[in-house]
Amino acid sequence: MVAITFIEFNGTRHEVDAPEGSTAMEAAVRNGVPGIPAECGGACACATCHVYVGPEWTDVVGEPSEMEEGMLDFATDVRPNSRLSCQIQISDKLNGLVLQIPEFQG
Ligand code: FES
Repeated sequence: MVAITFIEFNGTRHEVDAPEGSTAMEAAVRNGVPGIPAECGGACACATCHVYVGPEWTDVVGEPSEMEEGMLDFATDVRPNSRLSCQIQISDKLNGLVLQIPEFQG
């Protein structure tokens, strides 16, 4: 299991365990973390799983794919550290990952 911390816009922290091979979005949804409706179910087709990667994690998480970047255009308040959490594959190198949830999705 890989530990991930989601931080809501209001500062509330949710520390969850995610199995390797799943995605950060799935970890949020399975654990009832609010603010990630993930309307398309992880198909990179809705941008409602938008998160900000913690500054110390951007290199480890890496850049979005071209398809993900195209979908991020539909997200609100996109920043250089924006990612779609359904496209973040969980592996042990992400143990301790911190993701912030934007104020609004979509
Ligand atoms: Fe729809 Fe991630 S869940 S793009």
